[in-house]
Amino acid sequence: MYTDLNKKVAVITGGSKGIGTAISKRFGQEHMSVVINYNSDAVGAQKAADEVEANGGKAVIVQANVATEEGNKALLDAALDNFGDLDVWVNNAGMEIKSPTHELSLDDWNKVISIDQTGVFLGSKTALTYFKAQNKPGNIINMSSVHEQIPWPTFSSYAAAKGGVKLFTKTIAMEYAKEGIRVNAIGPGAINTPINAKKFADKAQYDQTVSMVPMDRIGTPEEVAAGAAWLASSESSYVTGITLFIDGGMTLYPAFKDGQG
Ligand code: BGC
Repeated sequence: MYTDLNKKVAVITGGSKGIGTAISKRFGQEHMSVVINYNSDAVGAQKAADEVEANGGKAVIVQANVATEEGNKALLDAALDNFGDLDVWVNNAGMEIKSPTHELSLDDWNKVISIDQTGVFLGSKTALTYFKAQNKPGNIINMSSVHEQIPWPTFSSYAAAKGGVKLFTKTIAMEYAKEGIRVNAIGPGAINTPINAKKFADKAQYDQTVSMVPMDRIGTPEEVAAGAAWLASSESSYVTGITLFIDGGMTLYPAFKDGQG
């Protein structure tokens, strides 16, 4: 546990499932107060909130579209109204659409960019505005992906968004470093979450993905949440502008693993 997180207030977007739920739960274990955002899955968000409370934290759930300014304002308001402050903002909500790029509709492109990239901008802007107005140090964590670095054919909108999140994170980390606001990203690899459920239900695809991971296994949401807790805590007090890859080595060029090349 990171004792400095005790009673700190966090907003987590996309908290109704997968990595967002795991981060909420972990923040509950750290005895934080958490605003859990969801888009459509109120039941999943409530389950996450119950786990936060069972672990010693506090939680409220808030429906909001992170691709809008009103949605992000509603999340900040929920933090202030329920818990009186904001310390940590996690831009976690995300989606992916698979399509050959020449067949990808503008609508689908816009959908992915609006959640995965614009949502990160709007969430960060909302948190930064509050931190600056209060003249307080703050902490922003953006959920990126190994695909901020690894090209991903047939997922170009997702890779474009995550590449954008990478440099957006580094840029605002630099822009607000003097104010004591730290901004970092997490780059998960293949994690056992609903986004991958269909793919991993197919044994051939599951084995294929595992073969791309030097550690030879799929990761857990809890392993990603552990990174979020560290980045949120003062144990990482001199860290800003990084992407913390939590990927079992997926970004290490696994095709070279037996000395080929
Ligand atoms: C994607 C997963 C994928 C993983 C590794 C993640 O960013 O969301 O669907 O399995 O990258 O390719």
